[in-house]
Amino acid sequence: MWEAVDIKQHRRSQKGVALWFTGISGSGKTTVALEVEKRLREEGHYVQHLDGDVVRQHLTRDLGFSRKDRDENIRRISFVAALLTQNDIITLCCFISPYRAARQAARELIGEFVEIYVNAPLDVCEKRDVKGLYAQARAGKIPEFTGISDPYEPPENPEIELKTDTECVNESVQTVIQYLKVKGYIP
Ligand code: ADX
Repeated sequence: MWEAVDIKQHRRSQKGVALWFTGISGSGKTTVALEVEKRLREEGHYVQHLDGDVVRQHLTRDLGFSRKDRDENIRRISFVAALLTQNDIITLCCFISPYRAARQAARELIGEFVEIYVNAPLDVCEKRDVKGLYAQARAGKIPEFTGISDPYEPPENPEIELKTDTECVNESVQTVIQYLKVKGYIP
């Protein structure tokens, strides 16, 4: 009986943090985050995943991909991530978020913020072309496409860098989970 209570307490032991996955399209942000989310849930943690492709159909469906719109996208998401984080949810945010200043603003608003640079070279991402968007961008069918016709400002001092072209998903996931443990966000 007391054992069951103990497990329940263990499950609730976590500190809110935003895991901010940034990187170009196809770098592996969502792939790694989904796996981190799965592992954390298996351990009984409360997790919320916010992802560009989903959020842009709801919270920010009125926005496009100009710098102004991308900044507004990140500003709204940061507000939601701050609320979740304050309530001790581990919040996984997967957004290209190409501009340093917008990421810095997100960091300042959220507070408990871990910048995860999901780093894969453009040619690798283009070869993967999971959504077929690079081909369209090269053909001039998608304007302002990050990495092709729009900038990406890599993080200068990320808490974590994942090189998804040379490490497997499991290694990347381990790096993130280990960081959360070392920093005391999870036991
Ligand atoms: S961000 O730049 O504002 O952070 P976000 O992560 O929300 O971008 O959305 C990126 C997703 O939108 C991509 O994964 C891709 O599926 C889609 N997308 C559509 N047009 C573009 C574009 N011009 N540049 C980058 N991604 C685009």
